Amino acid sequence: MMKISGVNSIRGELTVPGDKSISHRTVMFGSLADGITEIKGFLMAEDCLRTVDCFRKMGIEIEITCGKDVLVHGKGLYGLKKPQELLYAGNSGTTMRLLLGILAGQSFEAEITGDNSLNKRPMARVTTPLRLMGAEIEGRDDANLAPLKIKGGQLKGIEYTLPVASAQVKSALLLAGLYARGETRVIEPYRSRNHTELMLKHMGANINTDDKTVTIVRANKLKATAFCVPGDISSAAYFIVACCILPGSSITIKDVGVNSTRTGILDVLNEMGARIELKNKRLKNGEPIADISVQHSPLKSTVIQGDIIPRLIDEIPVLAVAGVFAQGTTVVKDAAELKVKESNRIKSIVEGLKKMGAWIEETSDGFVIRGGRELHPAEVDSYGDHRIAMSLAVAALKVRGVTGIKDWECVNVSFPGFAELLDKVKQKA
Ligand code: S3P
Repeated sequence: MMKISGVNSIRGELTVPGDKSISHRTVMFGSLADGITEIKGFLMAEDCLRTVDCFRKMGIEIEITCGKDVLVHGKGLYGLKKPQELLYAGNSGTTMRLLLGILAGQSFEAEITGDNSLNKRPMARVTTPLRLMGAEIEGRDDANLAPLKIKGGQLKGIEYTLPVASAQVKSALLLAGLYARGETRVIEPYRSRNHTELMLKHMGANINTDDKTVTIVRANKLKATAFCVPGDISSAAYFIVACCILPGSSITIKDVGVNSTRTGILDVLNEMGARIELKNKRLKNGEPIADISVQHSPLKSTVIQGDIIPRLIDEIPVLAVAGVFAQGTTVVKDAAELKVKESNRIKSIVEGLKKMGAWIEETSDGFVIRGGRELHPAEVDSYGDHRIAMSLAVAALKVRGVTGIKDWECVNVSFPGFAELLDKVKQKA
């Protein structure tokens, strides 16, 4: 149980840990490249370390120097070895889904599993199209639920329209496409994060994007390269929202990734009346980064729906906290995907904020909030979901008194050191 006390404001300059999505991909793609991939700013959090562990089990040497930089000794697209043990993805959907795409291209059989939460999350969205490409996959509920056994090789390219916008599913199919005869074409209903496309292109893959369609053809090799991972906007989000809701606050978060497929939260908060500025904008490894400077200002309600959802999917719980302190009625729609994340995030955030005194009601694909109520101390549950734990912690900053958050350790999945960083910028009440 973590105890969080209310504060007056937050102030200061900070950096947040490396981007989770990009960190996973540096290790995965580096393992498939020819030669050494050097990674700076890698996110040393549980999820990404699961990816490291899985590739080590497939014979890839991965060095972690001084506890922060990573060297991956890639063995080429066909250099992975059959793992002698079960591959364990822990809580990490990105590890499991992207790895399934890579394993679909291997001629050996492997088995992958996760923790209780991951083994309940839908995998058919990946295994169905991978089967169409030729992979053999077995698992409960017709290969919808891990543990999953997969044997690949001899893939053929397909054209596949994703039923939901998902970067994990898109990436799994593109990775399988590296090994497939002909072209693999993935069409999304809305654009999701495009780190896979940018990084594979940078490594020499023949991959092209045209609006919501991405096409890749079989590759002979990927070039090893150095990566510098930007700060994670999904982690910065907690500090941005805290700054917006606490009068007198002012922060600058340095070197954050501001790829437009990830910045939906900034667009929404700006529309709500936030004062956010991007400074020192530049490109690193094809990814835009900037310093995000935020000043407190009163928020007004908004409606979040449609094609912006994939651009802020992981930030919806903390945007709910912004909605609780905004004037008017905030509505989130078209976000049913939240039900199949690390927890049912609609239920978890609604329950937590309600317990703290907010007016918030669940709907079939989101929630409705009537903003402006004062919150009170409570004991709330993160349901083992890192993003719920940290979102509730942000709400707790506005409470006069102490909020208890259960199952706090889950923050280590994406943001070890979150509580310490929050302490640093807190201006005590
Ligand atoms: C991710 C994609 C998103 C996101 C997750 C990370 C990725 O999941 O929620 O935290 O790294 O590709 P979906 O693809 O399921 O939307």
